[in-house]
Amino acid sequence: MTQKLVIIGDGETAQLAHEYFTHDSNLAVVGFAVEQQFIRVDRLCGLPVIPLERLETSFSPNEHSAFVAISYTQLNRVRTRLYEYVKSRGYALASYISSKAFVWHTACIGENCFILENNVVQHGVRIENNVYLWSGNHIGHQTVIRRNTYVASHAVISGFCEIGASCFVGVNAAFNDRIIVADDCIIGSGAVVVKNTEPQKVYVGNPARALPQSSFKTFGVKG
Ligand SMILES: CC(C)(COP(=O)(O)OP(=O)(O)OC[C@H]1O[C@@H](n2cnc3c(N)ncnc32)[C@H](O)[C@@H]1OP(=O)(O)O)[C@@H](O)C(=O)NCCC(=O)NCCS
Repeated sequence: MTQKLVIIGDGETAQLAHEYFTHDSNLAVVGFAVEQQFIRVDRLCGLPVIPLERLETSFSPNEHSAFVAISYTQLNRVRTRLYEYVKSRGYALASYISSKAFVWHTACIGENCFILENNVVQHGVRIENNVYLWSGNHIGHQTVIRRNTYVASHAVISGFCEIGASCFVGVNAAFNDRIIVADDCIIGSGAVVVKNTEPQKVYVGNPARALPQSSFKTFGVKG
């Protein structure tokens, strides 16, 4: 991993990533890259914003690593597409793990992950690539969180769970132990998940029940 980092994105998540990497990592942020059609400013946080299409010219993959700083728009599809694009261009993808997170030494965390303060990641947990854990979650022992998923804040995911790929987990959601959440699920704020879920469904309430598919529109995904 090189010491120079380029952040993909220019929104609030990108600016937060700049702040966290700058003050709590050994990587130095040197610029931002955004798809040409979405460029709004040419400087951000005092650094250049360049078109993503010119990434290799401005910040060579031999000398720079990258971090894709995009939220859960379109149920993580936008972040996933840009992550795969940057990876295909030969960049090493950095992860940010807050110095204020508790991550046990047997836990594995993939690339392009964003693990914020006060997360507890216990023994044997596996967090796959491109997963965001916003602040204050409990990830119980031996649980797996699959690629491209976004966990908001203060979720309690008990031991031996499996959270599928590209899911969104809302604030204060709770999962009984050994629960399997299928891919592309949205778990609403405060949901208590006591049974395994079906893919591409939205779950709310205690005990959590599936809402009609149309709720996917909230995330800009066609239901
Ligand atoms: C689950 C969620 C995505 C559904 O959003 P939506 O598709 O816009 O759904 P609606 O607001 O149309 O609600 C549909 C129904 O589900 C209910 N509902 C929605 N969210 C709920 C929740 N979290 N818990 C219980 N019921 C909920 C609504 O009251 C409504 O019920 P009704 O049909 O009886 O009136 C959203 O409510 C939610 O929980 N988002 C997560 C918020 C969050 O964690 N934000 C952190 C961002 S980092």
